[in-house]
Amino acid sequence: MKIIILNGPNLNLLGTREKSVYGSRSFEDYFEELKEAFPALELSYFQSNTEGTLIDKLHEVGFGDYKGIIFNAGAYTHTSVAISDAIKAIETPVVEVHISNVYAREAFRHKSMLAAYCTGVIAGFGLESYRLALQYFERLKPKQI
Ligand code: DQA
Repeated sequence: MKIIILNGPNLNLLGTREKSVYGSRSFEDYFEELKEAFPALELSYFQSNTEGTLIDKLHEVGFGDYKGIIFNAGAYTHTSVAISDAIKAIETPVVEVHISNVYAREAFRHKSMLAAYCTGVIAGFGLESYRLALQYFERLKPKQI
């Protein structure tokens, strides 16, 4: 079962960026652990700092082979009508994830433009938010997705 993890702006800096909020581990390092933990899933990873590139990727994986998208859109979560339209337009289910507990932070992070079009939202568990999303897809029977 093909699942893609999609990370948005500034998440390429995980491990060096605001360590007290996002931790000191790079996503590439964590991704290796995830691949070992979910051998039955065909996992891939893509990161971009650019809104249009993220939308192009959603279009590419949003119809067909991929059974799930785990998406941390970073700050675009709170601002992007265009990304929310893309999620609405595609067929593959999207789980929104956040490393930090966005509800315990600034008020502008409390609003997600994307959540209404996602299957669900996981926030606040550090990098383990991604693992929880993968567990959701792993447990679904193929006919349910
Ligand atoms: C984030 C939360 C966003 O508010 C922020 O802009 C990010 C990361 C998170 O994973 O906690 O870039 O999505």
